[in-house]
Amino acid sequence: MLIDYNSLEETVIHEFKGGTGDTIMQKYDDGQVKVMKVTLKKGCSIGEHTHVDNCETIYVISGAAKITCNGETEIVKAGQSHFCPKGGTHHTEQYGEEDLVMSAVVPAMDGAKRALLERRSCRDFKPDMVEKDKIEAIVKAGTYAPTGMNRQAPIIIAVTNKEIRDKFMRLNASILGRDGDPFYGAPVVLIVLVDKNASPTWSYDGPIVMQNMMLMAHDLGLGSCWIHRAKEEFQSLDGKMLLKALGIEGDYEGVGHCVIGYPASEPLEASERKENYVYWVE
Ligand SMILES: Cc1cc2nc3c(=O)[nH]c(=O)nc-3n(C[C@H](O)[C@H](O)[C@H](O)COP(=O)(O)O)c2cc1C
Repeated sequence: MLIDYNSLEETVIHEFKGGTGDTIMQKYDDGQVKVMKVTLKKGCSIGEHTHVDNCETIYVISGAAKITCNGETEIVKAGQSHFCPKGGTHHTEQYGEEDLVMSAVVPAMDGAKRALLERRSCRDFKPDMVEKDKIEAIVKAGTYAPTGMNRQAPIIIAVTNKEIRDKFMRLNASILGRDGDPFYGAPVVLIVLVDKNASPTWSYDGPIVMQNMMLMAHDLGLGSCWIHRAKEEFQSLDGKMLLKALGIEGDYEGVGHCVIGYPASEPLEASERKENYVYWVE
């Protein structure tokens, strides 16, 4: 794949990361990696910063850089590279008479961080069935959720059978009191229920299973959404019959449906976080 800096827009960042002068940047960013061409004219620098989540590799195309990384200073000339490891702190300044031109590569945050911050509810799915190994990876992630006293009170019913999926879709829609598909066309419905007698923390355990599965789905490039009304579903005869057919006995309460599939469109941007979400006591 070609990355052509000539076709990338140039942005000028003044005092980048607390440095001096202008940093001229052309950036390619596909969510997996940032590849940048960076120019620092004479006297300019990028301020000291720490790569908390990822490393950075800099290749000097022309000119020279004076880079201080984790307390050690090195002159990096054209044809040479500098590597700042994850967790490292570095500061880069133009060195010598010639402008510094370099290429920098910064991988995206690791999967877990990306999933935590970038997962969004998907409400538009392609009908294509998700591969079995991906569904297995998602339900496995659900089973590794923490549970009170490790009692593992939740269970997951993984529905890929279209007839059963559609039956629950209709049941869910009737509880909602609307026509249409409340599962948004998702071909996979992972229903989480919790055994109310298994643990005093049963009501807290199920939602974490849901969250684990949504995060794993995101990591696998799939869309997901929590669809509610599982409680009412499993109070109904259809819900009880499904449990019976699966040989599930006990006092189970429905938590939610984690619907999974390939997104048919881009999800909405995350909304702003409310003010006063966090209160610090320091
Ligand atoms: C307990 C719970 C119930 C939800 N029920 C539904 C639902 O029935 N249908 C739906 O489209 N989204 C449902 N959602 C998804 C939320 O609307 C969504 O998480 C919220 O708008 C924030 O958007 P985001 O997930 O993209 O960050 C539910 C989420 C939670 C946590």
